[in-house]
Amino acid sequence: MSSKLIAPSILAADFANLQRDVEMVNNSDADWFHIDIMDGVFVPNISFGMPVLQAITKHAKKTVDVHLMIVDPDRYIKTFAQLGSNILTVHYEACTHLHRTLQAIKVEGMKAGVALNPHTNINLLEDTINDIDLVCIMSVNPGFGGQSFIENTYNKVKQLKELITRKGASTLIEIDGGVTNKNAKELVDAGADVLVAGSYVFKSTNQLETIKNLKALANS
Ligand code: DX5
Ligand code: ZN
Repeated sequence: MSSKLIAPSILAADFANLQRDVEMVNNSDADWFHIDIMDGVFVPNISFGMPVLQAITKHAKKTVDVHLMIVDPDRYIKTFAQLGSNILTVHYEACTHLHRTLQAIKVEGMKAGVALNPHTNINLLEDTINDIDLVCIMSVNPGFGGQSFIENTYNKVKQLKELITRKGASTLIEIDGGVTNKNAKELVDAGADVLVAGSYVFKSTNQLETIKNLKALANS
């Protein structure tokens, strides 16, 4: 079984010490950087945009996983590729022509991800799963860090795992929101491959140790 991945969410970093926090992730057992882009329209919050992403990718030495919580993401696919994104995830709920969007992301040399809000059913991916490199299951309503984990997520992970297996797809399952040492193992056992963790990592006193323990737990 391939190893389970940890993706600290930079949304919870100290923006006044961004380089320090990026270097912390570089030096940790984490696998990816998870970067949340919010437009204040698709979600009720605005995070940060292109110049900040550029500042992060300048120092990031690991895979850059960009989660777009924006309407009409097609407008910016090329720009996010140029800024150094390795994985570009769009929301199912924000895409009228999802299949076309996925192809456009791949043409730019990135892996294509689809995020699902808590109310969005897994079955809606039945016809696109073989075109998707990563499905991000939102385990909170997107827009803010530090929210509590929605328990129904376990069922969705199992349903998605079943769909991926049935279709012979190689899609990774990522969980985003409220991930801690309390749910990490159960999520992985249900079929998760990548765990995003924001507050749990950055609000802890020993961030390197927290990442190390979470990674060990996910792979236990
Ligand atoms: C929520 C974001 C998440 C967030 C997770 O809209 O997509 O990536 O940063 O933060 P925590 O781990 O604090 O729930
Ligand atoms: Zn996210």
